[in-house]
Amino acid sequence: MNRLSAFLLLFTIACSTPPETETNTNLPGLDWPEFQGGPDRSQYSPADQITRENVTKLEKVWEYHTDDEGQIQCNPLVINGVLYGMTPAVQPFAIRADNGSEIWKADSGDEENFLSTSRGLVYWAEGPDKRILYTNQSWLMARNAETGELISSFGDNGRTSLKAGLGAAAGDKFVISNTPGTVFEDLIVMPLRVSEGPDAAPGYIQAFNIRTGKLAWVFHTIPHPGEDGYGTWPPDIYRNESGVGAANNWAGMAVDRERGIIYVPTGSAAFDFYGGNRPGQNLYANTLLALDARTGKKIWHYQMVHHDILDRDPPSAPNLLTIRRNGEDIDAVAQITKQGYVFLFDRETGQPLFEIEEVPVPPSDIPGESAWPTQPWPTLPAPFARQDLTEQDISTIASNREELLELFRNSRYEGPFTPLSLKGSIIFPGLDGGGEWGGAATDPSGVIYINSNEMAWHIRLMENNPELAEGMTTGEGIYAINCSSCHGKDRKGNEASGFPSLADLSDRLDREAVSSLIKSGKGMMPAFPQLSDEQHQALLDYLYNKQISKEPGLDFTEAAPAAYRISGYTKFLDADGFPAIEPPWGTLNAIDLNTGEYKWKIPFGQYPELAERGMSNTGAESYGGPVVTAGGLLFIAGTKDKRFRAYDKENGQLLWETVLPAPGFATPSVYVVNGKQYIVIACGGDKLGAGKGDSYLAFALPEAN
Ligand code: HEC
Repeated sequence: MNRLSAFLLLFTIACSTPPETETNTNLPGLDWPEFQGGPDRSQYSPADQITRENVTKLEKVWEYHTDDEGQIQCNPLVINGVLYGMTPAVQPFAIRADNGSEIWKADSGDEENFLSTSRGLVYWAEGPDKRILYTNQSWLMARNAETGELISSFGDNGRTSLKAGLGAAAGDKFVISNTPGTVFEDLIVMPLRVSEGPDAAPGYIQAFNIRTGKLAWVFHTIPHPGEDGYGTWPPDIYRNESGVGAANNWAGMAVDRERGIIYVPTGSAAFDFYGGNRPGQNLYANTLLALDARTGKKIWHYQMVHHDILDRDPPSAPNLLTIRRNGEDIDAVAQITKQGYVFLFDRETGQPLFEIEEVPVPPSDIPGESAWPTQPWPTLPAPFARQDLTEQDISTIASNREELLELFRNSRYEGPFTPLSLKGSIIFPGLDGGGEWGGAATDPSGVIYINSNEMAWHIRLMENNPELAEGMTTGEGIYAINCSSCHGKDRKGNEASGFPSLADLSDRLDREAVSSLIKSGKGMMPAFPQLSDEQHQALLDYLYNKQISKEPGLDFTEAAPAAYRISGYTKFLDADGFPAIEPPWGTLNAIDLNTGEYKWKIPFGQYPELAERGMSNTGAESYGGPVVTAGGLLFIAGTKDKRFRAYDKENGQLLWETVLPAPGFATPSVYVVNGKQYIVIACGGDKLGAGKGDSYLAFALPEAN
């Protein structure tokens, strides 16, 4: 043995002793039984066969093709050697987790069901009764986990309506869920996605009975008369008649089954960007709710943004973890936010575990709008996304730097709570965070791992004047009000932001397909079921460049616009499509929540074009979160560069990376079958302008290991 290999051997031995809190499981089987790993959503696996030392030997062991292509945000489940996942077209399937061979795949046969995206599903079993629950359009579905057949005794032949507890106002409004429910005993508590416009349904929290599909309880996130919080809105706002709705949980929940408490973060009230018709603090929007899981009764709450006018939804399920203070264990709940904050509370009492200050924020200059004068600011940990921009932060590699500086100077920008304005505002962190829907991982030592975006956005508020409403009587007008904010006034889209061009639509898609897409939405594209048949046809005529005369009979009151709308979901980019601010544009963070201090923070992701020019450390936007393992590793995909990476969770050192067939905009799952540890990631691409994929890939160590 030469000196070098002797050194390496010693080094290997020294490093391979796992920390004491995370003992070797070495189990023949280890499941990933629930969304994000378990009821605590900790995205943590006690599996430790794959270690810092052997991770470089990881290789692909199987690839499962779903056959239909497109975004797959799914975090798959593994139970007793069977992997349950979702296809891009939102169909559940079951495959063998050791070799990827198919057991069953559902096909609902309904074209309209093929147009959304799913972050996962739920497994529930009681004796021989084993069920898979997931959502499709506005339905909660239940299938037999072994055969894939619908469970006829559940709801109406295997499905129950997600609108059951929303009241008549929900009517034919857009109500779906991209995120799987949370199980407590025989109940499933459901997230909801609703419109973010003035046509938003109320986003109440609903629990359904898993056996029958019947509604079990409802919590009103927009309180009814007599309920706490009612006075934080104008009277009768709950009727959902004045263009105010939402306050929905779209990002998922966590449950403490021992205590019987479910933790539910809610999003902003809609319309997202103008609150002139909802003056007040707006409880329980943007709130972490602790509810009695059996009854839906509120135990405690904390509002993280008051009267939100910036779409500052908490973007992910909370993490349940245990921290140590002065020698004592404290069961805590952590919530990451789009602003880049971590809020940490005592799970039982709701007491903040790091002091939170109410800091003054700038007022709005929009007529009728009263921005709340202060917002909560955790004193620790420090934000995981930058909070401030100055002229020095405008990109020095931008070919149009002068133009960007000009735009920056002419925009409103006064820190992280700068309100929107008619002249245009810089929103930073951007509308997608900060933290995102991939969620954060936590480990038994009390460390939280977060991938964060650092993108600035530039958005203008625009008046919805009567002439515009008048313009709504043509296909062009309907387009301007409903579609132009994303697809552009000129229909050319915005590729960098992921909004496709609709020019020359007829060359690519037939009218039928576009018609059903407008009705049901897809991915980040909302649905527009509120358009009447005439409006719908007038819009299609416009998209297919048919000349139509103004139809006097059209009534647009149903789609009544709010007083304001936004100029578009637009990122602040340079002339070449790169972020207009200095890097990092994305980071990976490890924060010790026992102390609030950072263990490490690194740029995460890259732009291949810039890496070729020697700028490989820029970081990039990421969607899909990390998992951590007892083997000392953090696995994460999530970036447009198609990489799947493994880091040393102690210090953020990159240990392994591989290139996926398409970007993995999803959170991986870790499991053990027959004594072998696997890690699986869905790669559907189809976001941030990336190409589409159709597969799930599993990695493991080679046999000889
Ligand atoms: C909030 C942003 C947003 C709004 C508003 C919006 N869309 Fe989209 N649209 C998208 C996104 C994102 C996609 C890509 C969806 C995917 O493939 O996952 C898309 C896709 C489409 C496509 C398919 C294009 C292709 O080449 O595959 C059509 C057609 C379309 N939208 C029409 C419309 C129409 C008509 C409206 C107005 C009624 C509208 N959209 C409003 C974001 C939006």
